Amino acid sequence: MTGKIYSASTTAPVNIATLKYWGKRDTKLNLPTNSSISVTLSQDDLRTLTTASAAEFFDCDKLWLNGKEESVEGNRIRACFAELRAVRKVLESANPELPALSSYHLHIVSENNFPTAAGVASSAAGFAALVRAIANLFELPQSPEELSRIARQGSGSACRSMFGGYVAWDMGQSDDGSDSRAVQIATQEMWPDMKSVILVVSASKKETSSTVGMQTTVNTSSLFKYRAEVLVPQRFKEMSEAILAKDFETFGRLTMMDSNQFHAVCMDSSPPIFYMNDISRLVVGLIETVNKIYGRVVAAYTFDAGPNAVLYYLEKDEPIVLGLLKAVMPDVDGWNKKPNTASITPTVPEGVD
Ligand code: DP6
Repeated sequence: MTGKIYSASTTAPVNIATLKYWGKRDTKLNLPTNSSISVTLSQDDLRTLTTASAAEFFDCDKLWLNGKEESVEGNRIRACFAELRAVRKVLESANPELPALSSYHLHIVSENNFPTAAGVASSAAGFAALVRAIANLFELPQSPEELSRIARQGSGSACRSMFGGYVAWDMGQSDDGSDSRAVQIATQEMWPDMKSVILVVSASKKETSSTVGMQTTVNTSSLFKYRAEVLVPQRFKEMSEAILAKDFETFGRLTMMDSNQFHAVCMDSSPPIFYMNDISRLVVGLIETVNKIYGRVVAAYTFDAGPNAVLYYLEKDEPIVLGLLKAVMPDVDGWNKKPNTASITPTVPEGVD
């Protein structure tokens, strides 16, 4: 086994949706039933580091996630490999002096700096890093927007991790998915006093995967159609405008409403899907109370397909938000101090299951 090994490494961040993607109109191409919006979190705390290598003597494609070898036979990984190889092939045809990397097998080594099972969007960072690492290895000239179209086929939410700051995934209209891709609404620098924190209330793996859960909702929920066709399109416009205007009140209000509505359609599915638990509901109650006391949105909560809370708030309100959480959940520590930075805190307040 000798010969040259070509390698490239990259990192990709986690993103947390403030307007949720929930439902596919095409399961093969991963085309969503609605557009979505997310905030990309700082890579200081949460990121995937991936190295892609190619060599003529590799005899098959391989993938290692956090030191463990995983299958590369899944349709999603296959789709990403195939698309990236096809683009590289075009490049090689135009530049015959380039090594024929498109015909070599790939070895991918990927590592999260956070627990994969912690219920934070690991597939988003994972597929974004995989696509970008291979694109770097292949020296592809494609823009992040174009690469987001490929990452989307690995995991829908991964397309949004191709950008920092505030990101929209435009659902697109075409049947082939060519216009279903992510675009940046605003950079993180544009709204530097926005902060976030993750409360990991359970580090166990979710019972219903997003992929399965969202199709159950699409097929069985009677509320779903109204969400996807009426509410989300309205909120998409309002939330994009709120971000550009740095209007935290509207951004926060819409974020909480959308999280609650997303969990309502999950519960409206058959069989019903429950992602939030008692601690999640305790967090909702706390934030609603503090917002009521102050007569404004001090903090906004959102929950993905699991019980963990993500809170968004402005820097000026950090003493209120962190003070409250520390008072109610004294075990919690390691709170963040940086913009858009998440802290993982596996803690369960006593007496709450
Ligand atoms: C609730 O992107 O994990 O986090 O496309 O099937 O891989 P697949 O689903 P995935 O779903 C994310 C769902 C969500 C909302 C969101 O991130 O927009």
